[in-house]
Amino acid sequence: MPDLIIDSAPDEADAAAKSAKPSSARDHDRRHVLHPWSSHGMLEPVVVTGAEGAYFWDEDGRRWLDFSSQLVNVNVGHQHPKLIAAIKAQASKLCTIAPYHANEATSEAARLIAEAAPGNLNRVFFTNGGAEAIENAIRMARLHTGRHKILTAYRSYHGATAGAIAATGDPRRWPSEPGAPGFVKFWGPYPYRSAFHAGNATEECERALAHLASTIAMEGPHTIAAILLETVVGANGILVPPDGYLQGVRSLCDEHGIMMIADEVMCGFGRCGEWFAVDHWNVVPDLITFAKGVNSGYVPLGGVIMSDAISAGFATRAYPGGLTYSGHPLACAAAVACIGIYREENLIARARSLGDDVIAPALRTIQERHPCVGEVRGLGGFWAIELVRNRATREPLAPFNASGAAEAPMTEFAVACKRRGLWPFVASNRLHVVPPLTIDEEALREGLTIIDEALHVADRHCAG
Ligand SMILES: Cc1ncc(COP(=O)(O)O)c(C=O)c1O
Repeated sequence: MPDLIIDSAPDEADAAAKSAKPSSARDHDRRHVLHPWSSHGMLEPVVVTGAEGAYFWDEDGRRWLDFSSQLVNVNVGHQHPKLIAAIKAQASKLCTIAPYHANEATSEAARLIAEAAPGNLNRVFFTNGGAEAIENAIRMARLHTGRHKILTAYRSYHGATAGAIAATGDPRRWPSEPGAPGFVKFWGPYPYRSAFHAGNATEECERALAHLASTIAMEGPHTIAAILLETVVGANGILVPPDGYLQGVRSLCDEHGIMMIADEVMCGFGRCGEWFAVDHWNVVPDLITFAKGVNSGYVPLGGVIMSDAISAGFATRAYPGGLTYSGHPLACAAAVACIGIYREENLIARARSLGDDVIAPALRTIQERHPCVGEVRGLGGFWAIELVRNRATREPLAPFNASGAAEAPMTEFAVACKRRGLWPFVASNRLHVVPPLTIDEEALREGLTIIDEALHVADRHCAG
């Protein structure tokens, strides 16, 4: 879909993203690689040759401050020496082994993840990434309840495999329809653009819960295996649920014997200033899906953390699912090292203070200075600036699912950031501020200043 993530989209005006030199990496890429969500005839990818900390650079020596953490996964920054050392050490010891064996790296990663997880979530099923985690969480919920339906929210992203894309509540799902059966959509809370005509966050919370309760009633509670939701919605807007919402979802699940699956693929592992975003509201789901930040993406890894009750169901009955690379030692060694880095460098608390002390105040100032900023919101290292044409009407700067000329104002803004040396995460009519959690304060402030400057480009499209 054209407008969801345009930070790597084709862009003829984007001189900053084009290389001056011919290179075999570029040529081979153009001829042989199909990049996700892209048309290969239009893409002009940056050929990245190196990275360190919060920066990466290309073959022409251009360097960008990474305010995207790539796809919001490089939480400990690029090329962290301890993470690299752990991968090298594991490679020398045991690169790979079938998942029916045990090994030190996988066992230790599972122990550490269970330790970080809330409540009685003590067992981990490893996958290669987020979408497979979703597939397996859905399977577990169905097996545990003996029910089929999965309720998911509009404005959500859960991955691009068959079940995960059917669960997804954004336009990326449309080309894969008709999809897997049994997925029912509901509206989650979004006070700035309330589906419930709510006037404030409290009202939004109450009405969103009432809507979910009636959706459950109309679908038949005894047919619903799980409610699957992103604890804090990521790619669809950094939508922080109002206090009370997740507790309310937990109660509805308890009332009807429905499993609560918290998708923490993007918002987990420190991104929201807690190990898992659910910790912010002291809610314990039945299943948590994770990926990305678990090892900062240095080696592909994801998984599902399950409650003792769900785990007990597979004590004597075989779990009917598997992957050749489940619990891959290299990926798990990277997870062990990454969790060690979160602890040693106090990154969970750091994410919180970067959010509270630096990002939030700077974004509020930016909001005051720029008529195109409709709302700023977020927590920890997970923020969005929502851009509008008109503050009074809240008309988005680019319409929902825009492409071509309609998304030009956002493309221009992204180019303005890149030209100033900042790599943005732009999605729809928003800029997401999601730097590595290790970014130093000076670089963070520098990036926020660049955003402030680049927003003048967006202000030109704004009526008030
Ligand atoms: C919340 C969420 N769930 C699932 C996924 C899918 O993860 P993956 O791309 O690793 O399959 C993503 C990816 O961005 C995500 O943000």
